[in-house]
Amino acid sequence: MRMHKKSHLEERLAECGTILTVADLSQKNMKLAAKERAILSFEGIFGNLNPVHLEVGCGKGGFVNKMAQLHPDTNFVAVEKISNVMIEACESALALGLKNVHFLICAAEVLPKYIGEHSIERIYLNFSNPLPKLGYVKQRLTNPRFLEIYKNLLIPGGDIWQKTDDEAFFDYSLQSYEEAGMHVLSVCRDLEAAPFEGNVITEHERRFMDEGKKIFRAVVRS
Ligand SMILES: C[S@@+](CC[C@H](N)C(=O)[O-])C[C@H]1O[C@@H](n2cnc3c(N)ncnc32)[C@H](O)[C@@H]1O
Repeated sequence: MRMHKKSHLEERLAECGTILTVADLSQKNMKLAAKERAILSFEGIFGNLNPVHLEVGCGKGGFVNKMAQLHPDTNFVAVEKISNVMIEACESALALGLKNVHFLICAAEVLPKYIGEHSIERIYLNFSNPLPKLGYVKQRLTNPRFLEIYKNLLIPGGDIWQKTDDEAFFDYSLQSYEEAGMHVLSVCRDLEAAPFEGNVITEHERRFMDEGKKIFRAVVRS
């Protein structure tokens, strides 16, 4: 279903300016864009040097905003490529008065333009689009080209926390991690049966759980 452009989107995005960076979306050459640097200063944004966690593909931001509330001593950066969706995340964070979350509208492909090397302690991949068709393999957020980006963003010993409802995509991701020389630290194939303390349920996770689907989770060290 085609998403309608939200009314007054530009004005609403401008009102979120203090917590939002909008990438130059006119840049279509991802490789070129990623080579240019417009690195965000986390100290400038957050006013401290607390560890930074990154969510890639945050959707409406339910997860990252809850995490920011629960973990005030961690800074969160959330990335999403669709402004229409991101606006809800930003407006919720402003309404909650969160000071430890920042939003970045950009494609994950150009993250190296905005986020410094080895500056991220943890990356969350929550219910990334599984994109089962072979023609879209390179768009999967656990494709090797993204893993190379994540490895450069993560600090030594940093990790990736992934959740998905899609078993085939999960298995593909595990294989990608291994092939990229990353260490799969834990694998859970039914999160409801083996929950972990502190799990924050995302919008998609709630929907899939209500449908009775199993949730898969992996923790991976770079
Ligand atoms: C299925 S939704 C999951 C949203 C949320 N994480 C959740 O669990 O409810 C996946 C999101 O990732 C975003 N996304 C997909 N590919 C992306 C990319 N290359 N860069 C940035 N965001 C991306 C999509 O726009 C979409 O909002």
